[in-house]
Amino acid sequence: MSDHLHDELTKEREAEILAAEREVYYPPAEVVAAAHVKDYQSLYEQAVNDLEGFWAERAQELEWYAPWEKVLDESKAPFYQWFVGAKTNIVHNALDRHLKTWRRNKLALIWEGENGEHRTLSYFALGREVNKFANVLKSMGVRKGDRVTIYMGRIPELIIAMLATAKIGAIHSVVYGGFSTEALADRIEDARSKVLVTADGGWLRGKTVNLKDIADEAVRRSGYVEHVLVVKRTGQPVNMQTSRDFWLHDLLALPIASQKCDTEVMDAEDPLFILYTSGTTGRPKGVLHTHGGYQVYVSTTLKWVFDIKDEDRYWCAADPGWITGHSYIVYGPLILGATSFMYEGGPDYPFPNRWWQMIEKYGITVLYTAPTAIRGLMRYGESWPNRYDLSSLRLLGSVGEPINPEAWRWYYRVIGKERCPIMDTWWQTETGGFMISPLPITPLKPGSATRPLPGIVADVVDEEGNSCKPNEDGYLVIKRPWPGMLRTVYGDPDRYVQQYWSKFGHKGWYLAGDSARRDEDGYIWVIGRIDDVIKVAGYRLGTAEIESALVSHPAVAEAAVIGVPDEIKGHAIHAFCIPRAGVPLPTEEELKQHVRKEMGPIAVPARIEFVSVLPKTRSGKIMRRVLRARALGQPEGDLSTLEA
Ligand code: WT7
Repeated sequence: MSDHLHDELTKEREAEILAAEREVYYPPAEVVAAAHVKDYQSLYEQAVNDLEGFWAERAQELEWYAPWEKVLDESKAPFYQWFVGAKTNIVHNALDRHLKTWRRNKLALIWEGENGEHRTLSYFALGREVNKFANVLKSMGVRKGDRVTIYMGRIPELIIAMLATAKIGAIHSVVYGGFSTEALADRIEDARSKVLVTADGGWLRGKTVNLKDIADEAVRRSGYVEHVLVVKRTGQPVNMQTSRDFWLHDLLALPIASQKCDTEVMDAEDPLFILYTSGTTGRPKGVLHTHGGYQVYVSTTLKWVFDIKDEDRYWCAADPGWITGHSYIVYGPLILGATSFMYEGGPDYPFPNRWWQMIEKYGITVLYTAPTAIRGLMRYGESWPNRYDLSSLRLLGSVGEPINPEAWRWYYRVIGKERCPIMDTWWQTETGGFMISPLPITPLKPGSATRPLPGIVADVVDEEGNSCKPNEDGYLVIKRPWPGMLRTVYGDPDRYVQQYWSKFGHKGWYLAGDSARRDEDGYIWVIGRIDDVIKVAGYRLGTAEIESALVSHPAVAEAAVIGVPDEIKGHAIHAFCIPRAGVPLPTEEELKQHVRKEMGPIAVPARIEFVSVLPKTRSGKIMRRVLRARALGQPEGDLSTLEA
């Protein structure tokens, strides 16, 4: 077993798992009685016995322009293909088909701005805005297969822009609004986007973020972008470059922005979006998802896990700029015809009552968030949520990293009043949707994502691929393909094969990059990443990208970053830098500012230490294990492979 597998499981996590393994919470009878899925075992077995039949049945719940010839084609593995030959467009299922029913009058989106502004969009209104936006994109020359980069805060236009892009058969690449210049420039360049959609600014904790200035600099660095479409959000002054930049509201007022727009007919396997995520080495990878399989996967998993009903007011508090938002704010809920809530700002602004107040005000029934947000809100004490009526809630969710049992119990008791089961969903940008997760009927153990969903064959295996014994750590693998899986790394198929299929691909198994263990009841406990990915407040960051931001400062010759445990964020970044000879040493603060400007606030190290050497193996690989031990003041362990 690799070094990594061992040092990820800290003594504390080990003790937590062992204690929580015996702590079981049963779902209330009324939740079980109302659940869409009442029998896990029979669905699970149906999928094991007939994977194609199982997914075909789920796919039949959606509309297709033309049916598939084959559900799963494994002939080009690991380039698996789903619903081969089918014609579809995810926007048809997310919008068009609802407009033919009573749902045209149902609210698709309820939105609150950080500044208290409020907007609602019915399915009809959302359909109209998407069509107008799509016609604007067409007028800028966007065609089927072109890439459109979208960079803005949590406002309805972000969702509208995604759907408009997909509607005309173009490919969206959403870049999280908290990223900064270099991160955005790299992603525009890799996707070769010719249109960038952004906003003048965004609201964050009472201040405005200068999105358009960052976008201008990124466009200058990357090339490719021909037009920038700007949404007015804050009204702050921005530079508009004549004939390159346009205000969205100006174009929407023109006759070109008709509210009629045909939905492009796509092959099931045509690309829908690229979403960049960090991996083991180098630049972020463009994870590619397609129209057909993805729509089946996100709608099915959302229906099962959060048990979506017409009466729900569902709130996924993630950002649409991450996969959680793509699958479970935008596509999943819209395909199911659900009503979603979206909030622009942070959980504790201006006060720590903000979320609880909105749950009461809008009557939210399902809340899906991340452990880091729960821990952050828990810190303020229970008197804040206790002042609000949270009785509308019926299910809770968690995603992004393992949830520590203490935060789980607080969430369960204080927010859910011991009536709302917590869906701890394990999945990844690459998997498209939930993979290992309870259903509302599943007995829960705090900190375990429980069991694989029906249709998913997961295992924990050792170096040779043998299933691990109970409570033994190993590699988390997925042994059969699923419709929501990534299809490739955009523009780099070799990297796709190398990253996910080089270890166990000969057996047809997908390597998730996480370590895990299974307990005696078959419950899976995810431990953490086994690669150089750090989860900071649930955000996935690659060491390489942060290190390259550090060395882009003239005073830094070499840099290495690691994740160290942090009470609220799960992990915090700790950086070690070798100063460049002959250049004045910058202050720690100055270097942090530099990372903030290049990568964004989420990538800023909590600590930066200057050192004269970095521990490396003879092959030149940085020994992060040694750095981590140093940062934590622990013994450095076996140094036999350290470079002499
Ligand atoms: C990595 C994927 C998928 C949405 C957000 C994250 C970690 C995610 C859990 C969970 C334990 C989790 C894993 C995974 N992770 N959810 N419920 N329990 N770990 O997507 O940014 O692609 O990150 O997040 O380490 O590999 P992502």
